Amino acid sequence: MNYPFQIKSLEDYKKQYQKSVEFPEQFWAEIAETFTWKKKWDKVLEWNFTQPSIKWFQGGTLNITENCIDRHLETNGNTPAIIWESNNPDENNRVLTYKELHFKVVQFANVLKNNGVNKGDRVCLYMGMIPELAIAALACARIGAIHSIIFGGFSAQAIADRLDDAKAEFIITCDGAYRGVKDIPLKSVIDAAISGNKTIKKVIVCTRTNTTVNMTIDRDVWWDDEIKKIETLGNPDCPAVEMDAEDILFILYTSGSTGKPKGVVHTVAGYMIWANYTFVNVFQYQQGQIHFCTADIGWITGHSYIMYGPLSAGATSLMFEGVPTWPDAGRFWEIVEKYKVDILYTAPTAIRSLMGFGLEYVNGKNLSSLKVLGSVGEPINIEAWNWYNQNIGKGNCPIVDTWWQTETGGIMISNLADVTPSKPSYATLPLPGIQPCLVDENGIEIEGNGVNGNLCIKFPWPGIIRTTYNDHERCRLTYFSTYENKYFTGDGCLRNESGEYKITGRVDDVLNVSGHRIGTAEVENAINMHEGVIESAVVGYPHDIKGQGIYAYVIYNSSDGDLNLSKLDIIQTVSRMIGPIAKPDKIQFVPNLPKTRSGKIMRRILRKIAEGDTSNLGDTSTLLDPSLVDIIISESI
Ligand code: PRX
Repeated sequence: MNYPFQIKSLEDYKKQYQKSVEFPEQFWAEIAETFTWKKKWDKVLEWNFTQPSIKWFQGGTLNITENCIDRHLETNGNTPAIIWESNNPDENNRVLTYKELHFKVVQFANVLKNNGVNKGDRVCLYMGMIPELAIAALACARIGAIHSIIFGGFSAQAIADRLDDAKAEFIITCDGAYRGVKDIPLKSVIDAAISGNKTIKKVIVCTRTNTTVNMTIDRDVWWDDEIKKIETLGNPDCPAVEMDAEDILFILYTSGSTGKPKGVVHTVAGYMIWANYTFVNVFQYQQGQIHFCTADIGWITGHSYIMYGPLSAGATSLMFEGVPTWPDAGRFWEIVEKYKVDILYTAPTAIRSLMGFGLEYVNGKNLSSLKVLGSVGEPINIEAWNWYNQNIGKGNCPIVDTWWQTETGGIMISNLADVTPSKPSYATLPLPGIQPCLVDENGIEIEGNGVNGNLCIKFPWPGIIRTTYNDHERCRLTYFSTYENKYFTGDGCLRNESGEYKITGRVDDVLNVSGHRIGTAEVENAINMHEGVIESAVVGYPHDIKGQGIYAYVIYNSSDGDLNLSKLDIIQTVSRMIGPIAKPDKIQFVPNLPKTRSGKIMRRILRKIAEGDTSNLGDTSTLLDPSLVDIIISESI
């Protein structure tokens, strides 16, 4: 496959960028032409950010799986679409060519139909990183069902909340999942999540770990048994369902400033085009290369850069079941060597953690196949950037620092590998179609260079969030109401003298822990579920490996008992309510929280104390009890 709209030089980038701003409809129509449509669109773009209502390629119909699979069959049918590396280095890998992927997706799409799944139904996928996860997601897309993939680290309660919000009636899971030394009992977590739930019609269980599971008669079925039924029917075809460009492709839950996660909605055509365009341009993918994105498919990075971006480009996507540090901290480098990986896309937290193990795990590994390195999920500190550049890229590979979000569907601001310049710790320049702006707290746009502000986007791009599932008002309030006529990202940002962008971190109550987005309110709600807790406030603090750690200030009813045990108990409560990723790193019991007279917690002060920077706490005179601050400081961890 060739990529006619792949940008080839800085000049070309400038030209394309200019065109995307001046003639956005023509720009995107020309790109859209290169995809497979069942019916061409009537109108490229109709939008307003007030409602918001954003419609790309209205009137057009298509199916994303025809673009991700069928269209490659004739010329690239024998090209590996997915190469899968097991958690266990001694287990055989699996390779699915585009032909094989087609066969399996069609087969499982028929399983879904056989089990009563229809277009528009919500199907929850709670699985480990095995090819069946991608097959299941694509099978949903083939029949027009909406997938909602939930990361395998989320707890039963977190799943229950998401199932309920999406009104999902179908679940696809595994008996268990391997991650490093761990064996996660996915099916039993699902059982706990849906105990008493009457709306779940079917649970399809794929075997991975051979863990013993409970199967509820009439509701739970085995993946393999269901496949056999399709085989006995002679493996019939499953034509791709005709979808409107703006039909929902998937829901993906993400945290915000409130306690309840939001179901971010992406639609078929715009998301597909954006995932594809950004994949081909940022990584400068060339046919035949091996692309290794280390994210989990449970997050947006895995959706866009393991599945939809690479597959729509006919690329070979490497999917890894395990973790970077098992059996030892050389696992990524072994995989790079084994498959001659061309593009490695990972997170700063992984780089920092691997840095800590020392170079003995890197030395001796042949990394000469690498051409492009990528970073995603959080700001990359200069030290990690240099280590990645010197020891992994050997000074020869451009590092693309890709800034984007679940809501943006794909990469928004990034250098393009070897095409536009990179700058350590800078995401650098917006992709064509992206019109960033910085605004002050009054919503006034800050013009010029060498300025700081809140990052907004002024114009829609094809991959923009369309709504939050079942709650459009929430989408409007969260993203489109803070600043009039702009999409607000929630990030702070600097634009330097050369017009390059550097993301400085969230400006709302959202934490970024190991590249995972966690709302402080969500963690507080979970902590407050512990019976001894009266109130809590959660803030972030700089953490060497995770980027941000979670610091919880807790008012605790401590009449008796061991306080350290109580802390462990609180940590377990959070794990049970959300999942291990949201566990506080530090818990400080406090007599009270610093509140203003109107009862608002002054988080700014708590943040400063957690950061260990108490030299300038600002004005504390409006506090109900200013003396409390000294007590909290003296007992801080
Ligand atoms: O704060 C930004 C940070 O991650 C947030 C988005 O989180 P999520 O939706 O979970 O998506 C993560 C993967 C795309 C952003 O608001 N972020 C993401 N990439 C970068 C980043 N911060 C700095 N530099 C980046 N490259």
